[in-house]
Amino acid sequence: MDIRNIFKNNKKWAQEQLNKNPNFFTSLSEHQHPNYLWIGCSDSRVQTSQIMNLPPGEVFVHRNIANIVALTDFNCLAAIEYAVDVLKVEHIIVCGHYGCGGVKAAMDSNTPGGVEAAIASNAAGYVGNWLSNIIDIIKFNEDKLKNLNEEERYNKVCELNVLEQVKHVSDTTIVQNAWKKNANLTIHGWIYSLDDGILHDLRIDKNTI
Ligand code: CO
Repeated sequence: MDIRNIFKNNKKWAQEQLNKNPNFFTSLSEHQHPNYLWIGCSDSRVQTSQIMNLPPGEVFVHRNIANIVALTDFNCLAAIEYAVDVLKVEHIIVCGHYGCGGVKAAMDSNTPGGVEAAIASNAAGYVGNWLSNIIDIIKFNEDKLKNLNEEERYNKVCELNVLEQVKHVSDTTIVQNAWKKNANLTIHGWIYSLDDGILHDLRIDKNTI
């Protein structure tokens, strides 16, 4: 896509929305009442609203490489805080995806002298440091992964990463406080399949985490 076409496409899109509903932008610009916070991967193929077939205004979005919820990441925590305390969303969805490049990079670097050595020598860069969040997940779950073939292992780490991030969301003081106040708030772990465009509920509940 040539960048010069983007403004042209944008005008076309805005006009199409007005043709369908003349009040589309005026009603949207007044307020937002999303009921969902989506925490997903930055991957360009995982387009939040599109894959849920939701119009603008329905989902508050935080995305980063490999949908990681790090308890040291003010960006992610601020998004959760705003969604829970101000927007009062009733659902937080952590959505990973099979074929996640971030997960693959973490798996590939989980070898002796891999990313840990690179981080120690300050050579891993920001991405390498960020993905170190996933390396611990691989280490802690080695018993679940050892008998799987390469593809199954890759898929499983993508799923385990979602599970771990759901735990992190649940552990935040933001969510804990909301639950103490009996807020109607549920955390979900989903995974998206790039192959067929289908979302899967990993059915993570309090017993799983
Ligand atoms: Co990804």
